[in-house]
Amino acid sequence: MDNIKTKIYKGDDHIGMEEAVKVLRSDGLVAFPTETVYGLGANALNENAAAKIYAAKGRPSDNPLIVHIADTKDVYELAKDVPDRAVMLMEAFWPGPLTIILNKKDIVPNGTTGGLSTVAIRMPSHPVALQLIQKSGLYIAAPSANTSGRPSPTEAKHVAEDMTGKIDVILDGGAVGIGIESTIVDLTGAVPAILRPGFITKSMLENIIGPVEIDPALINPDQDIRPKAPGMKYTHYAPKGELTIVETQKIFCDNISNDTSYTTDTTLIVDKINELVQEKEMQGYKVAVIASEENVNKYKCSHLLVAGHSGKNETVAAKLYSILRQCDELEVDFIYSEAFNQGELGGAIMNRLLKAAGQRVITI
Ligand code: TXA
Ligand code: MG
Repeated sequence: MDNIKTKIYKGDDHIGMEEAVKVLRSDGLVAFPTETVYGLGANALNENAAAKIYAAKGRPSDNPLIVHIADTKDVYELAKDVPDRAVMLMEAFWPGPLTIILNKKDIVPNGTTGGLSTVAIRMPSHPVALQLIQKSGLYIAAPSANTSGRPSPTEAKHVAEDMTGKIDVILDGGAVGIGIESTIVDLTGAVPAILRPGFITKSMLENIIGPVEIDPALINPDQDIRPKAPGMKYTHYAPKGELTIVETQKIFCDNISNDTSYTTDTTLIVDKINELVQEKEMQGYKVAVIASEENVNKYKCSHLLVAGHSGKNETVAAKLYSILRQCDELEVDFIYSEAFNQGELGGAIMNRLLKAAGQRVITI
């Protein structure tokens, strides 16, 4: 399916929107902005359309897709039973960066859910995404619009890098707001469980529905526990250079479960990273550093990438994936990053950064 002519339109271009709707209705592929990352959309109820998504991304077919809707009522068309907890979460967080897993009805094909009897559903808040769903009159299956294994796209140009020649239309809505994928919560078990951390945190969920578990595979990624979200088992977001995170103590798991009661000595981290950079540069390697805004002036490295302020981790989330893509463009051999584990969002950021690093951490 390579060498399709890929057309790019601005998200507010009416002609582009009409073209996108036409493409989706004829089972083609449209990339569109959401508030989290760009999605690669197709008709969720048509297996052949969904199959095109897997082909364009090079995605393993056991990795299910999220179905995007524009009206909470649509949940009842797709899910067999909708527990009270689901209704409460929908009311609290939709439209927004939360995906809920429910038991699926038969109209949702196995080709969309990777053969699972459950379905992931999300109502995004981005106006272009909502318009596309409403105008097409479809439910839109959409994973992140990257080639499998690359960082999720947070700008239309990232989508174009990965998908040109493979999809019909890209709607360009500019840089997304959040920058990391939605929180996924499974509501099919006795206790709700977070399968992927995101902008909607554990405590935000617990404020609405009471106790929420975290998938054990997220807490102990080193051990051989199979994650409940099939996509979480893959080494996602890996840059071509070898990425290492430098940290002062191992706090990542606690962080996902909201324990923010630690402090980090950044002087030690900066010194260690400078030492590592110097060592590799002396060996003739090209090296990059991912630094927080407040430490930027303390590094000696020719490729310094500024991630945002570590005290305001939403700024880090917004930039993380584009920085990982920049590392690829620079063709660096080694990348050293500070850990961005402060605050509740820190857990979601570290989940992505650790995956990108293949869990490689130097603890000092
Ligand atoms: O923010 C987002 O969620 C973005 C935007 C485009 O909406 N989408 C996204 O999709 O991140 P994707 O395909 O890259 O990630 C979906 C994740 C995968 O890890 C997949 O395994 C999991 O959701 N998933 C989907 N359906 C599931 C199900 N029925 N049970 C468990 N996990 C599921
Ligand atoms: Mg993805």
